[in-house]
Amino acid sequence: MSLPQFVRLVEVGPRDGLQNEAQPVSVAAKVQLVDDLSAAGLSYIEVGSFVSPKWVPQMAGSAQVFAQIQRKDAVTYAALTPNFRGFEDAMASGVTEVAVFAAASEAFSQRNINCSISESLERFVPIMEAARLYGVNVRGYVSCVLGCPYEGKVAPEQVASVANELFAMGCYEISLGDTIGTGTPGATRQLFETVAGKIPRGKLAGHFHDTYGQALANIYASLLEGIQVFDTSIAGLGGCPYAKGASGNVATEDVLYMLNGLGIETGIDMDLLIAAGQRVCEVLGRHTGSRVARARLAR
Ligand code: HMG
Ligand code: MG
Repeated sequence: MSLPQFVRLVEVGPRDGLQNEAQPVSVAAKVQLVDDLSAAGLSYIEVGSFVSPKWVPQMAGSAQVFAQIQRKDAVTYAALTPNFRGFEDAMASGVTEVAVFAAASEAFSQRNINCSISESLERFVPIMEAARLYGVNVRGYVSCVLGCPYEGKVAPEQVASVANELFAMGCYEISLGDTIGTGTPGATRQLFETVAGKIPRGKLAGHFHDTYGQALANIYASLLEGIQVFDTSIAGLGGCPYAKGASGNVATEDVLYMLNGLGIETGIDMDLLIAAGQRVCEVLGRHTGSRVARARLAR
């Protein structure tokens, strides 16, 4: 299969990245980050989540962040909603796209959202119905697609089955999450081949955490499988609070560098992107997880 001409990057740093920061991050800093990212040309930004603050304290200010960002027409600003309460809160905050998240492993589902896979899918039904009334698109996530921190191996068929349930209930795109970053390119290709048996490739996205340094290779493998949407995190921020030791998503800067090298369009400006990453890293008092940003800033 030939490489695509255009790839859409879904920037998850403000959500997947910051949800895992131990120190509090101010609403102002989050707003600045989102605005920096839209200025850099990202067309889809996951701004926050409407989850229980007892479970993920860092996302508690998501409503204020949504109220203060400078919205651009061409940009989708999305939020994670685990249940109907979260969906209602998101609608009250003027959110125009939400994401629901399920897991391919039972143990992870219990640890992450305190219910079984089938219970989580049932919880999403009223969200899907209400979203239709609001005219809001719903994206679906499946976690642990290439391994689970509690159960180990996860069969591609199991991922395909959960992904297909989300797709059948109306999620317009399904993002397959390598939550713990253990996947390798061969397994990634096999996964997409299996899931594509049920869902068109154009409706699938890849979400690779970079714990084992495999994310770029996995994205390249996914491109060869006809996948054109990838979730990435500015400066490689983040991890998952319920997957101990898992590092952040692959850095947006590093994916952009690879895509630029392949001649694939994204609409994103590298200099502005690196500046956005630099600013948030200064706020957080940490080093960037992007090798490209490090190399560029050392020049
Ligand atoms: P629960 O304890 O089973 O729910 O949590 P509950 O209904 O019994 O409610 C418990 C308390 O939470 C109650 O408050 C509710 O009001 C409140 P209390 O009466 O004790 O004061 N509550 C809420 N508060 C705010 N917003 C809400 C909400 N719902 C209930 N929406 C629940 C179930 C799903 C709420 C909880 O487990 C939760 O919030 N989990 C979120 C976990 C999470 O955000 N994980 C990280 C995101 S997923 C991820 O990172 C993976 C991904 O990146 C892909 C990948 O990498 O694989 C997407
Ligand atoms: Mg994630």
